[in-house]
Amino acid sequence: MRYLRALKSGVMFRTHTNGELRLEHVGISVTLAGWVQRARNMGGMTFIDLRDRYGITQLGFNIEKNQDLCEQARKLGREFVIQIEGEVIERESKNKQLPTGEIEIEVKALTVLNSSEVPPFTIEDETDGGEEIRMKYRYLDLRRTPLRKNLELRHQLAIETRKFLDGLKFMEIETPYLIKSTPEGARDFVVPSRMNEGQFYALPQSPQTFKQLLMISGYDRYFQVVRCFRDEDLRADRQPEFTQIDCEMAFVEQEDILNTFEGLVRHLFTSVKGIDLPAFQRMTYAEAMERFGSDKPDLRFGMEFVEMNEVCQNQGFQVFDDAELVVGICAEGGGEFTRKQLDAMTDFVKRPQVGAKGLIYCKVNEDGSFKSSVDKFFDQEKLAAWAAKTGAKAGDILLLLAGDVHAARKQMNELRLYVGDLLGLRTKDVYAPMWVVDFPLLEWDEGTQRFYAMHHPFTSPKPEHMALLDSDPASVNANAYDMVINGVELGGGSIRIHDQALQAKMFKILGFSDEEAQKQFGFLMSAFRYGAPPHGGIAFGFDRLAAMFGGTDSIRDYIAFPKNNSGRDLMIDSPSTISQEQLKELHLKVQLES
Ligand code: AMO
Repeated sequence: MRYLRALKSGVMFRTHTNGELRLEHVGISVTLAGWVQRARNMGGMTFIDLRDRYGITQLGFNIEKNQDLCEQARKLGREFVIQIEGEVIERESKNKQLPTGEIEIEVKALTVLNSSEVPPFTIEDETDGGEEIRMKYRYLDLRRTPLRKNLELRHQLAIETRKFLDGLKFMEIETPYLIKSTPEGARDFVVPSRMNEGQFYALPQSPQTFKQLLMISGYDRYFQVVRCFRDEDLRADRQPEFTQIDCEMAFVEQEDILNTFEGLVRHLFTSVKGIDLPAFQRMTYAEAMERFGSDKPDLRFGMEFVEMNEVCQNQGFQVFDDAELVVGICAEGGGEFTRKQLDAMTDFVKRPQVGAKGLIYCKVNEDGSFKSSVDKFFDQEKLAAWAAKTGAKAGDILLLLAGDVHAARKQMNELRLYVGDLLGLRTKDVYAPMWVVDFPLLEWDEGTQRFYAMHHPFTSPKPEHMALLDSDPASVNANAYDMVINGVELGGGSIRIHDQALQAKMFKILGFSDEEAQKQFGFLMSAFRYGAPPHGGIAFGFDRLAAMFGGTDSIRDYIAFPKNNSGRDLMIDSPSTISQEQLKELHLKVQLES
């Protein structure tokens, strides 16, 4: 805005933006430019809403005062780019919804800077365009206020992040995008090398190893707002290329990192949203799984898991008797759920994505009696024991699932969130931040019969668990942590291994031969031999952060040019085939499976 004003004395396209004129400007001459949002002809007057990034200003053309100009205005179509000169006047009928709604411009001159075809959807807050067409014409969709606001929010978050971290002496350092494929984590996107036949770069899934090398180089506080690439299945909160606020610190312990980045997120909430976050809860991974069946629990509401084996088993009901775990939640006020709602809930848990065999419920009636879906097997006295175990009272409902521990907890987590939504407990403007700590170091995979690193292979075991690495690796916990707000994993990190021998041992546990470890990560292992300081870090999902601040789950709306769920950019039509020439240059032969 200041920049535009500075231009005022010279020749220029505009003296003001379309968002800034008010009553105090009445009487001055202005030059404005922008897009025609819509035109209205009302008797002797034609009104045009002129739009730019900053807002909308109403232009008025009076047929009696200037017939030619008015006729010219009537020929303007939607999205024409125009420039006008005129005088700011007070409006007769004011529009309180619009910041500029008290004035309009009495136009004296009109220049059409460019015409426009009729856009494929209306470019207004509420549009008639479907998802696909809007993705195809993303540059038009981005003209709409809701999307513009999302990008403004994202920009503000980036600026505040940089301010905060700069204030703590973090340095923003860029790391390369053409790197080396690594077998851990998601699939890599690879880039063939023209100059090195048969060899490929990979795009980074994160700058993990580079930021560790920067610690070894002595840049003890690093950050980067950086693009990462992962070839994985896409969801509302996942894009194949996404942005991280990637951070690393040397000479720190876990506690320092948690405090520093709690500080960053607090700063973002106060500076961008004016909200003081409540205290960050801390919960171990084991506790989170037991109480909520998830490593990213939504703590905006209770409905904690209750283990029901004791009051449910050995009473002749096979589903419970055969189960490793009978787990229940008590939904306060859920006694009101209708038959239809309960049927829908049952269908929900039986969907393949959730995978439960069925849902058992027990309502506590107003008179203190019980009505369950298994009345045949459990009399009132037994159901009373269920209620006592869970603290259910009149008007509540108990929901039970049974199965093996892991599956039953996972399914109950889905059900808890579903019921939380149904009861309106997941309100957008309430924030429940937390740290999940003490993640297991390793995860056993039945399919490949090997351990995988739960976070990544550079994560340090807890010092007190070091001895278990040989005897019982599965029970080793890591100095790894996730920041979770309202059930969304916003960020994760760990204290790293900085000892060459321990890193080598870790690769061995992960099934790498010495040779493979050397080939993949030799550069890191050798760097560890030249004075690697203790270090650790974290990375936040920047798109997720923006979506959370905007109050939605879909990160796509916070990325200027996102991909669709099949990983396609519908606007530029990518991915696409390349010419035989290019393939040849890259020494590639494409053979499509028929
Ligand atoms: P991690 O893999 O947990 O850690 O990623 C950090 C954060 O990035 C976000 N995220 C994504 N956002 C959008 N689309 C995706 N496909 C996607 N994948 C991940 C999540 C996640 O919490 N190098 C480590 C960090 C570290 O140890 O310092 C890392 O990348 O919000």
